[in-house]
Amino acid sequence: MTLLLGIETSCDETAAAVVDDGTRVLSNVVATQIDIHRRYGGVFPEVASRQHVLSILPVIREAMEQAGVSWADLEAIAVTYGPGLTGSLLVGVNVAKGLAWAKDLPLLGINHLEGHIYANWLGSDGRRGKTPASFPLLCLIVSGGHTELVLMSGHGRYRLLGRTLDDAAGEAFDKVGRLLGLPYPGGPAIQEVACTGDPESFRLPRALLGEGYDFSFSGLKTAVLREAQKLGIGSDHASTRAVPRKGGGGPKSSYSGSFPVSDLAASFQEAVVDALVSKTQSAVSGSGVRAVLLAGGVASNLLLRTRMAAALTEQVYFPEPKFCTDNAAMIASAGHFRLEAGHRSGWDLDVVPGLVLGGRG
Ligand code: KG4
Ligand code: ZN
Repeated sequence: MTLLLGIETSCDETAAAVVDDGTRVLSNVVATQIDIHRRYGGVFPEVASRQHVLSILPVIREAMEQAGVSWADLEAIAVTYGPGLTGSLLVGVNVAKGLAWAKDLPLLGINHLEGHIYANWLGSDGRRGKTPASFPLLCLIVSGGHTELVLMSGHGRYRLLGRTLDDAAGEAFDKVGRLLGLPYPGGPAIQEVACTGDPESFRLPRALLGEGYDFSFSGLKTAVLREAQKLGIGSDHASTRAVPRKGGGGPKSSYSGSFPVSDLAASFQEAVVDALVSKTQSAVSGSGVRAVLLAGGVASNLLLRTRMAAALTEQVYFPEPKFCTDNAAMIASAGHFRLEAGHRSGWDLDVVPGLVLGGRG
């Protein structure tokens, strides 16, 4: 039994979790700030760090209590030190350092993107995750801040194959959601309205950028903006007519499959998924990878999951939805494998807001 406490505060979720052996999640507490940031249509950095200060200790206490463990049971504390928002990262790193010092535990600074990858090792309710069997693996990290194809040749060994040159996939979902008048975050909202839309109704561009493995989503976003303007469905207009709001019930029934917002949302989702699947497919071919891992918030997208699994002969892994978006269990899992490999961070651990994974190979 190797119990780790994970702490994650890189963006707008304050999270703590206790994980055994990097695979069994004993607790996974996430205090989300989504309702606070929704009014700004995105994350407001100063507000985010202030909320982390308020939430971090209660969240850690709850994670320890739910797991039923004491400080003496822990092997180490793992914390996200980048990439992310500076003020947000600082809260988690400093709390982790203070606790590790006070409780005489090893400290492990974890790359948030590595954490997203390790969400694929997690199983909830004390079950072990379906651990990917062997390396090399190809990881598609698709989150609000990142879109990266990374070759993983072993635990902690990464080579960056391609990345977005402009917007991240999740960022594109969020921006398009906002211009269609859907609630923040745009990803789940677009997925929901797209269910009743026709993905063939709008011809939107797929930026495949030739032979390489880089992505680009800003042209697609601009194309959606143009279509929305032509139809006169700016955010204010759409939000009052047709937006299914969380817990709000009502307006969903006011549009049919032919309502432009759902058609445009479905066409946009289709274009993003097409680009992600075709780049992953070409990165897999001839590479000798044993399996493909999806990671990050956009990995909970149902169309992406089904399309990717259908397009590849290799096994495709994706985390449970609650481990796709930001959480601390994934940080504890990555910490476990780093601890096993003999890694430790020093007391001079600092935040690195622009931290990369794997460098350009
Ligand atoms: O990984 P994550 O929680 O945070 C970052 O590290 O950025 O990802 C959040 C992103 C948001 O952009 C959100 O819109 C997107 O993940 N997302 C989705 C879905 N669920 C969350 N995008 C598409 N479909 C979804 N079902
Ligand atoms: Zn994330």
